[in-house]
Amino acid sequence: MTPDDQADRGAAAGLNAGPRVGRSPGLSADSDPGSRDRLSGNIWLNNCAELRRAYAQRAQSVAGYVRFEVVTRELLASLGQPPQRVLDIGGGSGIQAVSLARVGHEVVIVDPDERMLADARTLAAKELGSMRTLVSTVPGRGEDAPALVAGDFDLVCCHSVLMYTSDPSELLGAVAEMARPRGSVSILGLNRHALAMRYGLRGAFRHALTAMQQGTVCTDDEIPVRADYPEDIDDTMRAAGLQSHGWSGVRIFSDHLDDAPYESLGPKLHDLCELEWHARQVDPYRRVARLFHWMGQST
Ligand SMILES: C[S@@+](CC[C@H](N)C(=O)[O-])C[C@H]1O[C@@H](n2cnc3c(N)ncnc32)[C@H](O)[C@@H]1O
Repeated sequence: MTPDDQADRGAAAGLNAGPRVGRSPGLSADSDPGSRDRLSGNIWLNNCAELRRAYAQRAQSVAGYVRFEVVTRELLASLGQPPQRVLDIGGGSGIQAVSLARVGHEVVIVDPDERMLADARTLAAKELGSMRTLVSTVPGRGEDAPALVAGDFDLVCCHSVLMYTSDPSELLGAVAEMARPRGSVSILGLNRHALAMRYGLRGAFRHALTAMQQGTVCTDDEIPVRADYPEDIDDTMRAAGLQSHGWSGVRIFSDHLDDAPYESLGPKLHDLCELEWHARQVDPYRRVARLFHWMGQST
């Protein structure tokens, strides 16, 4: 059996051996038109039950832990003394929001998935004292944020959302619009430069090739998601009038560990976070990261 076949079998058995990207949709003329339909519209809302489950599991994994540690550290470095006003577009179940509220920042989450927002309120309610009131939720699409909440935020985040949109331009326009002059903007997305790495290192070579050619991958539930080149996001945000601070790589080494709960790594978890922090802006490590973290400033 070839590694690709093994990966297919693992995926069919619900194992974490590598999803079937061979049928992933895309953008090439000979791809499956049925799959292409699955990439249109809002991929999250069309598949929310599976995606919520996968997200909750990944958030507790080593890769999930490292990602929140590194990104939160970058965000805190860009924010002034608390309380600052933060808008988290697609903030989901509130993990990022609560980590910022813990140091005294006020966070508004705008997200169309009411179940994720309910989880965010539950998470915030577990915090002590005034911290629990610092997170608020607004149901709605990020694209509609300018009509839903008053702007002028000190920081606008849009993390792990672009991959679920067939065309991110409207969402990115809304993200740019919500920051105050000299306010910060933070975008976390799936790094198209390195899309084939996970499959390739698992021996799913056919899938790795397809990921490279089409710029899409499938989640373990075989739901197709889209990746972006950080340079394209940089161009779009500059065109929207933002000053770029460049991008970092996130989940460089941790993406290739298994999905075991982060506690299982013991004291090595700290070493891994330090390693990823130091590698995040150093090529070639940055370019092979699973995620890119773009940051900029409104002018
Ligand atoms: C993978 S979760 C990411 C949650 C959180 N931002 C994080 O980085 O951990 C994706 C979230 O994006 C939300 N989402 C999907 N489409 C969206 C849109 N058009 N506008 C705002 N949020 C959206 C989903 O409802 C979901 O809560």
